[in-house]
Amino acid sequence: MTIIGISGSPVPNSNTDRALRIALDATGEETEFIKLSDYSYQACRACLGCEETNVCVLKDDATALTQKIRYADALIVAGYPPYGYLDGRTKSFLERLWCLRHKHGFLRGKPGGIIITSAHPPENGVLSPSMEHAISSVKHFMNVEGMDVVGAVGVVGNVPCLLCGPGEHCALSGVKKFFGPDVVRASIKIQKLEDQKDVIAALGTMGREIGERVRNSKKK
Ligand SMILES: Cc1cc2nc3c(=O)[nH]c(=O)nc-3n(C[C@H](O)[C@H](O)[C@H](O)COP(=O)(O)O)c2cc1C
Repeated sequence: MTIIGISGSPVPNSNTDRALRIALDATGEETEFIKLSDYSYQACRACLGCEETNVCVLKDDATALTQKIRYADALIVAGYPPYGYLDGRTKSFLERLWCLRHKHGFLRGKPGGIIITSAHPPENGVLSPSMEHAISSVKHFMNVEGMDVVGAVGVVGNVPCLLCGPGEHCALSGVKKFFGPDVVRASIKIQKLEDQKDVIAALGTMGREIGERVRNSKKK
């Protein structure tokens, strides 16, 4: 049994990556962690070239990755919401999984988990609700493909302006946009997954449940 996790975060060993590894480990099964930024691929071209074979005709890295997911027992999707929606790398990859759909629905019934790392403070009502948008985008994909959506876990991440040279002094600083006009960078805590005990617990619960459902489906 293999459970695959894909991370759309391009940052090395990011909060998103570490969260995904925790969920994968909790499944108790053989797992594979795929960092999408290590691969090069384009979005689906809607050419229907995959209609008969369930294999994408595009010659890039996603074609082989989609076939790995065809034979996996479960899938965990981990991403983040730049500009308030699911990151483009993850979204493009999910679109490429369309090739597994025709006639067979190769994703149907597979347990699916969702992890989104968002820097958007929930109390900020001005910007669009990033976490909810990103989770609902992955959920939509999983529902359309007939997957068994096991759960979604939100991780608190960091607005990149906390690390960028100008910080709160830039006219468009995310520190001000996310936290308010009077907030300075020094007053914002850098968010680390390891400090978010309830999130870690939720990742474990989701991972264990995915492992359990995979094992139960094999018994049937
Ligand atoms: C270009 C860009 C735009 C972003 N816009 C948003 C946003 O609209 N909402 C949000 O919650 N986070 C936004 N973020 C912050 C990411 O959610 C944050 O970097 C997240 O913590 C990334 O996860 P990581 O810690 O795993 O790298 C943005 C990040 C980048 C790079």
